[in-house]
Amino acid sequence: MVERNSLLLVTLLLGFFGNASTAEETAVGKALYAQSCAACHGVKLEGGKTQSLIDSIWQFGQKRSYVFRNIKYGIADFAMPAYEVALTDKQIDQVIDYILAMEKEIGTPKPPLPQALHTLDYQVKVEVVADGLDVPWAIDFLDKRRALVTERGGQLRTVVDGKLLPQPVSGTPEVVAEGQGGLMDVAVDPEYAENGWIYLAYSHALPKREGKGRPLTMTRLVRGHIRENAWVDQEVLYEAAPEFYGSTRHHYGCRIVFDPEGYLYFSVGERGIGRHAQDLSRPTGKVHRIHRDGSIPKGNPFVGVEAALPTIFTYGNRNPQGLAVHPQTGRVWESEHGPMGGDELNLLSAGRNYGWPEVSFGRNYNGNIISELSDRAGIDAPALYWKPSIAVCGIDFVRGDRFPKWRNQLLVGALKYEEVRLLDIRGDRVIHQEIILKNAGRVRDVACGPDGAVYVVLNGPGTVLRLTPADPDGVFSSL
Ligand code: HEC
Repeated sequence: MVERNSLLLVTLLLGFFGNASTAEETAVGKALYAQSCAACHGVKLEGGKTQSLIDSIWQFGQKRSYVFRNIKYGIADFAMPAYEVALTDKQIDQVIDYILAMEKEIGTPKPPLPQALHTLDYQVKVEVVADGLDVPWAIDFLDKRRALVTERGGQLRTVVDGKLLPQPVSGTPEVVAEGQGGLMDVAVDPEYAENGWIYLAYSHALPKREGKGRPLTMTRLVRGHIRENAWVDQEVLYEAAPEFYGSTRHHYGCRIVFDPEGYLYFSVGERGIGRHAQDLSRPTGKVHRIHRDGSIPKGNPFVGVEAALPTIFTYGNRNPQGLAVHPQTGRVWESEHGPMGGDELNLLSAGRNYGWPEVSFGRNYNGNIISELSDRAGIDAPALYWKPSIAVCGIDFVRGDRFPKWRNQLLVGALKYEEVRLLDIRGDRVIHQEIILKNAGRVRDVACGPDGAVYVVLNGPGTVLRLTPADPDGVFSSL
């Protein structure tokens, strides 16, 4: 009896930790691998018809859950078959255990950060401007010499002349750094030189309710000044009514941008409840537009519409992780974390519906169909969607004189695929896409600085990179 109980306990623990493996399990994994995978990935996992699985490069996502998903559902468009039918979940886990054990035993370590990148138009120099950050989320610039970087845990950091100051800004608002939440976007007022305003978006908690579970949270927007490295003069610009706070800890949105007319746009994800994105009486699953002092523009699309919130600019947005304003047209582009195979790039128009969850190219992460529809009258189709999902995140347009051939093209960061892509956009269409950085780490944010350089915020290693042309007038410029 005692023995059975302890066996049960071991089984439960194995089940709980999921990826514990024994020699026996590895042997099962090895056999399954030989039978199902070796023909393409090589007998020793070294690659063959396709890539190696032991080179420490996981171009479709390194987290175990991503690897699992890639095997179970396959990788559409890349000829990686789905094993949903052929293998049970347990067998997939056994194969992964075997692959990871082999990676540890004979794998090659991940190559160091590249010093230079070869892109179609430029040879690009890569420098590290800040390192050792704790899950950085966003970057924005005070002037040509100084940048602010948020750390999701709640700290606001300053980079001066390419050096990270050791002391974070004191007195910034308290955040709920759980799940996907924390201190998220930082945005510098377009007239910062005159007014000094800095904007923050973060996950905010209501006071804990006596005897009830954990505190309820929601996206909140504030602005303030920084004086002597302290956050002061704080004003709350957007705070949802308490009934819109929720117990989930994901899909906060939280991106902030300004258009040439001075409007402030910010995003709020649907907090995990898809149908709320279609409900105009709720703030979640929306992009909102306000004046920079928090007041509501009279020209907003739902002002005067009964039972609709007047701050709403667009709806049906799942979890908008990137917002950027086109330097010439002044229009707002939005990137949105979709479900599996449904990451989107949208061009936003006032009052429009972007479809979530009624219309999507993606599937739920358990493989279920969300919607049979990928388009429908009355719903704006994305300008571009990524299937499989790259885990799209921050976006920004290239401005300035440093990369003239890239001017007005859109930089797109991807977490899972560890990429920076460059999108050539004409009008409302994306006509070309190039991967300019790959496998340097999970990309949380990208930004073009006032110096015209491209800044890349890497979530994983906690690094900010600076990209500049190594050959501004060199061989590549004649292409
Ligand atoms: C018919 C050939 C084929 C077979 C069989 C196959 N794969 Fe793949 N696999 C691919 C291709 C192609 C890719 C994408 C590679 C690329 O684009 O570089 C891929 C990608 C992957 C990836 C993603 C790697 C990354 O870098 O993120 C994993 C994990 C993977 N395969 C595991 C498996 C496992 C486990 C099996 C057996 C159960 C298997 N594959 C069987 C062709 C195959």
